This record gives sequence, C-alpha cells and structure tokens, in this order.
Amino acid sequence: MTTDQETMSDRLHVAIIMDGNGRWATERSLPRTAGHHAGVRSLRATVEAAVERQIHTLTLYAFSSDNWQRPQSEVRALMRILAAQLPSQAARCVRQNIRLSIIGRRDRLPDPVLQAVLRAEARTLHCTALHLRLAIDYSARDSLTRAARHVGNNGNGDFLQALMRAYNADSLVPDVDLLIRTGGEQRLSDFLLWECAYAELYFMPDYWPDFDGTKLDTALCAFQKRQRRFGKVPA
Ligand code: IPE
Ligand code: IPE
Ligand code: MG
Repeated sequence: MTTDQETMSDRLHVAIIMDGNGRWATERSLPRTAGHHAGVRSLRATVEAAVERQIHTLTLYAFSSDNWQRPQSEVRALMRILAAQLPSQAARCVRQNIRLSIIGRRDRLPDPVLQAVLRAEARTLHCTALHLRLAIDYSARDSLTRAARHVGNNGNGDFLQALMRAYNADSLVPDVDLLIRTGGEQRLSDFLLWECAYAELYFMPDYWPDFDGTKLDTALCAFQKRQRRFGKVPA
C-alpha cells in the first residue's frame, strides 16, 4: 500500500458480498457451519483494515432474505453466530470508534439477534471513524418495492428516504464505489441494486474465510486503476 492508498478514501463506500464459506469448509471436509465460523475472523480483520485505510462506509452482506431457504440447521447456526458475535463486535467497534448499523428486515429475526442488533446500534451510535453496515435479512428488490409503494410520485430525494427506511437504515450513505465479491461467483445476488448503479465491481476467486486486509488492498489497488466516467466523456 502506498501512503495515498492508506488515506485514500474521500467518503469511499466499499461493499462486500462475503461468499464462499460453505465451499471453504467442504473442501476441508468440515461442516458448512465451520466455514461461517471461520468467516467471522475475516470479517474482523477486514473491518480493522477498513479503519486503517480510512474507508468511510463498509457494507457487508451477512445474510440475504433468500438465505432463509437454506436448511433449517444452517439458518439456525447462522443466527446463533450473529447473536453471539454482535455483542463482542459492538464492543470492538466502540474501542475502534466504529458505528455499527444493521440494514434489512427486522421482523423475522429471532429475538436474541434482534436484541443484539438494537444494543449494538445503540452502543456505537456516537462513533465516527467508520460506518460499518451489516446486511441481515436483506433483499434489494424487497426494499425497492416497499420504498416505491410508500413514496408515490414525490421525486428522487423522497425515494431515497423511503428506500433508507425500507431497509431500516438510519441515515443516507453515499452510493457504493467499490463492490467486492469473494467466492468466484460474478453476480449481485440481490445486494444494493440501487446503490451499485455506478459501483466498480471486483470479483475474486478466494473464499471469504481467506479474505483479509491484504486482499482488501488488492481490490482497492484495482479500483484505483479504474476510470469512472458516470456516462460522461473523460476530461
Ligand atoms: C456466504 O457463504 C455466507 C452466507 C451466504 C451466509 P456461503 O454459505 O454462501 O458459501 P458457499 O457459496 O456455499 O460456498
Ligand atoms: C449471497 O451469497 C448472500 C451472502 C453472501 C450473504 P449466496 O451464496 O446466498 O448467493 P447465491 O445463492 O450464490 O447467488
Ligand atoms: Mg454462497
């Protein structure tokens, strides 16, 4: 990393689809849930790296609304991991001045997860170094549909507010600049479809449990070489 990259972010929003936990575990003859546990370590390392790189907003896809369709045992394991990890992650966030918020539906979360979400958000509300957003029971299509239903015909600003409310965000954040997906698949899987309108996409073969600050740097370096045009002719 150059000094430039270490302090690169002028309100940079990085989003990550943390994929490949199951395959990481299966390749090691472990149960898929072992991959989810290993993924927690990568999450922590990535969050720390994001603070060091002065990234402004980091949105991590932890559980999609379609993930409810997985075997009950896996869903239960994932919910247990969330309920267990959110309090310690929140404590870490307070120490590192990170604001933690959760986006997605809340009405279907098991009570221990919901309580952990509310406590984590309340504890870190005042923090300013990084805005860490964890997407849980998140579906971009569902959010867009509900926002559209609420907003009527009132214009873009109101739509963004409605969209923000539809997935329970408590503030507007900048659009995604860089979307990273681990695990080798090259798709969005219903993640931040509106916010990624002009995101640079970076797909990497590494499974999420093998992701860390160095891999984040690789993606950031690639991002810095991209020319973003937003539909215009380059200057
Ligand atoms: C991502 O890893 C974690 C969640 C979706 C919860 P996967 O569990 O999708 O892992 P693969 O894609 O099956 O390897
Ligand atoms: C997307 O991964 C959701 C998360 C990483 C939380 P999936 O593994 O669920 O996506 P698909 O099924 O491969 O599209
Ligand atoms: Mg997957």
